Amino acid sequence: MSITYFEKEQIFHLQTPNTSYVLGVLDGKHLLHLYYGKRIDEYSSILDNFPIAGELAFSPIDVPEHFMSTNMLPMEYPCYGSADFRSPAFHAEYEDGSSVTCFEYESYEIFKGKKKLSGLPATYVEDESEADTLEITLCDRLTGVRAVLSYSVFNTVDAIAKSVCVKNLGNQTIQLKTALSSTVHLFDKNYEFVHLEGAWAKERSIQKRPLLNGSMQIESKRVTSSHHHSPFVALARPYATETQGDVYGFSFVYSGNHIEQVEVNEFDTARVNVGINPFGFSWQLTPNAEFQTPEVVLTYSDCGFGKMSRTYHKLYRTRLVRGKYRDEQRPVLINNWEATYFDFNEEKILKIASKAQSVGIDLMVLDDGWFGKRNSDNCSLGDWVVDRTKLPDGIESLATKVNEMGMKFGLWFEPEMISEDSDLYRAHPDWCIHVEGRNRTPARQQLMLDLTRAEIRDYIVDSVCSVLKSAPISYVKWDMNRNATELGSKSLPPERQQEFAHRYVLGIYEVMERITSQFPDVLFEGCSGGGGRFDAGMLYYYPQYWTSDNTDGVERLSIQHGTGMVMPASTMGAHISAVPNHQVGRTTPLTFRGHVAMAGQFGYELDLNTLSDEEIEIVKEQVKLYKEIRDVVQKGELYRLASPFEGRNTSWEYVYEDRVVLTYYTIRARSTMGKTCIKLCGLDGDAKYTDTASGKTYSGSYLMNVGLYFEDKKDYSSQLFVFQKQ
Ligand code: GLA
Repeated sequence: MSITYFEKEQIFHLQTPNTSYVLGVLDGKHLLHLYYGKRIDEYSSILDNFPIAGELAFSPIDVPEHFMSTNMLPMEYPCYGSADFRSPAFHAEYEDGSSVTCFEYESYEIFKGKKKLSGLPATYVEDESEADTLEITLCDRLTGVRAVLSYSVFNTVDAIAKSVCVKNLGNQTIQLKTALSSTVHLFDKNYEFVHLEGAWAKERSIQKRPLLNGSMQIESKRVTSSHHHSPFVALARPYATETQGDVYGFSFVYSGNHIEQVEVNEFDTARVNVGINPFGFSWQLTPNAEFQTPEVVLTYSDCGFGKMSRTYHKLYRTRLVRGKYRDEQRPVLINNWEATYFDFNEEKILKIASKAQSVGIDLMVLDDGWFGKRNSDNCSLGDWVVDRTKLPDGIESLATKVNEMGMKFGLWFEPEMISEDSDLYRAHPDWCIHVEGRNRTPARQQLMLDLTRAEIRDYIVDSVCSVLKSAPISYVKWDMNRNATELGSKSLPPERQQEFAHRYVLGIYEVMERITSQFPDVLFEGCSGGGGRFDAGMLYYYPQYWTSDNTDGVERLSIQHGTGMVMPASTMGAHISAVPNHQVGRTTPLTFRGHVAMAGQFGYELDLNTLSDEEIEIVKEQVKLYKEIRDVVQKGELYRLASPFEGRNTSWEYVYEDRVVLTYYTIRARSTMGKTCIKLCGLDGDAKYTDTASGKTYSGSYLMNVGLYFEDKKDYSSQLFVFQKQ
């Protein structure tokens, strides 16, 4: 059992293989966060060696037994209203207009396994021996409101999944204003706030800034997790590197408005809060109603960012992603978007497919433009009926012809959207998200469907499923190309309008669950203008995600490097596209683009018929090579050996069973400087490793300590090695 309760001391000790998380109940009342970090054997007493001391002036004494204030205590689930002036995890308004909550410890339960979160994505176990769960119930005695804090502790992965269920067991209706998923305290402020910022075509660049007194936060108010701030934050020692130093990771398994906030108070301790963004959020809880928060997955690494990432990769690849494609090999695909954009017909698609089949590609994906009268992005979203001017014999005929060539067929959808110029909008002008009397602001000339309404969710499920049933479709690219504005829904009374953003997210989760469970053999790839909603929540439904619309090899190095902080390579769609690149105009060699794309879910995004015979031979070799190494890249442990954010080159290493894939990319050549030394990681020092191309053999200790030397002679040059352990 990885959770122990010491009754006399009133201490809960949670242990993963290498970490400990300790909670204590002070005086049977106040639930305190005492420790999170490297695994310890024991934590004996709450007050003997207490981490906090401070001047109490202006900290009201609400713990008189010890002449203490909750304003200085590390409250495990801090609530607003009494003496704790820091940002709370919980804030509610009551019928008398007051908003004071005083949660006190009530009870606990420990059980094997991990419960599902109803209607929400979450990590899971396949056998109850994989995790233990602690549930601690807090009670606000005046109102009867309970907060049940849940901690699932994984037994073979250094991860703890936290969430909270708020239960209104009183007899008044309350208004939740803030209900976060996790609070953790760090007892000094010598950390950096590390997060992944971005924009369209520039997803997840790694940002670091030192903590200062006051609050620092990232958030989304866009109703989706967004390109702009991934729902993830790490707190790392300033000296932490890929291989050294303390790093705490907080990954939020949620696809909507989120907040990751750190507040350093006057005592120089840091409170880390993660959850649904309280901005624009409110939730009415009638008596006996419950509110379940999404889950946050915490990990602590004593060996830098690399170990943190490998923990997330392992957990998310095996116990967040579901369905048959979690373990089954995914196809190498070709997508026609950058090859044709909207300008295609059946003949063009079949020509692309035929060439793709001849080089060994498994799946032909038809992107946007196959439905309604969609020859540009200004119409037809919502009208999921094939455009017979482009595809006279329909999707079924096209898919069958592709199948007859020996390839599978996939299709693009953007089901959450509605174009003003669509039959759907003409029939149901009120189906879009809007507020009566206000402008309906278009983005990419489209509006969003109101997924808080059951009949609209049914429409989406029915229209997507009927296309999927009508033809042999093996893959779906599910796109989502805007953020929500003018939030409002006809389905909600005024007092519930502020529930809209979360209800939208619950709506999309329900839709995805219904569709994916009806089509368990279809591979779903998420997309949101590239990687705009590429978050852990989506991975519960879709095992892979289009990482970015930016397909330039150089830009992709940074995008994939940053994305890989949390997301495993098996989830990152990565394609070779044409040069000059359509997003940045850069020309890079086919081999370089190939080596970059092979570091994810490999595919192509161009018309292979435009390549020379010599290039087609390279493509054949790429597809063959990727099929040989995909297990290693997708299931292997990732070591980031050189970062595109720090230098002129990038290097990644994947170790899986007895094979190793090493990539090295030169972004900018240099003249007079020496070679770059790349030292491998994670090998068996005593074993021999043979470079399968040259036959040269090295010992693991040599590769890890002496390393390999690379010359940065040429812009956009790259190498990929496969080592076989002897
Ligand atoms: C988004 C996607 C692209 C492509 C287009 C089609 O931008 O990210 O890959 O599917 O939509 O309109």
